[in-house]
Amino acid sequence: MPRGFFVTFEGLDGSGKSTQLRRLKESLQSRGLPVTATRQPGGTRTGERIRALLLDSRAESLSPFTELGLMFSDRAQAIAEVIAPALEAGHIVLCDRFTDSSEAYQGGGRQLGSQVVRELHAALCSGLAPDLTLLLLPNFDRSLARARRRNERALAATGSDENRFEQEDSAFYRRVFDKYRQIAAREPLRVAVIDSDGSIDEVHKRIVQVVQERLFPC
Ligand code: TYD
Repeated sequence: MPRGFFVTFEGLDGSGKSTQLRRLKESLQSRGLPVTATRQPGGTRTGERIRALLLDSRAESLSPFTELGLMFSDRAQAIAEVIAPALEAGHIVLCDRFTDSSEAYQGGGRQLGSQVVRELHAALCSGLAPDLTLLLLPNFDRSLARARRRNERALAATGSDENRFEQEDSAFYRRVFDKYRQIAAREPLRVAVIDSDGSIDEVHKRIVQVVQERLFPC
């Protein structure tokens, strides 16, 4: 059976991940390659409902384990409905966040530890591992400030209330950041750390270079 290529994007809120995913999708498609793009949480009808639950800042009373369980419920559905079928069809799947986010945010940020996340991944996601993870790590303080500004703008413009995670304090984000670095050090063959300081074009070029090396080695 043909098998596509599974690429995940990871990073802190405000790291420019979603823009870069879109740029990579356009550049792969312009080469005639089949691409499926999705995001977590979300990406399926069930997932979008789970996303609303998770990100709504009014749901402040969610326990860390509830949060983790919901992330994996979303992920299991996305794998079944979108990711596995697309990979089987030979697509390049670009996924905005995957299990590394759970390890960084719930494992690191919420201090549940890595082990429970890795065990849930093995049990609920059949251990599906990305072929390549692009970890966008910018300067820590700049990234945090950008996430806050973006959130304030969204709230002012739309009344959108997706700011639950961005209300976390900087110690939380420091733990997320440190966990991401640990994951990258643990799995250097899978995880490529991309310096995401620089213009959108500059970061895009860095990403294209890594993807070229990993996907199309000559
Ligand atoms: P989103 O608006 O998609 O943020 P971003 O554009 O930064 O990806 O919100 C997703 C939020 O959910 C983000 O703060 C990270 C968090 N998250 C987790 O805590 N655990 C997870 O497993 C996933 C997938 C996301």
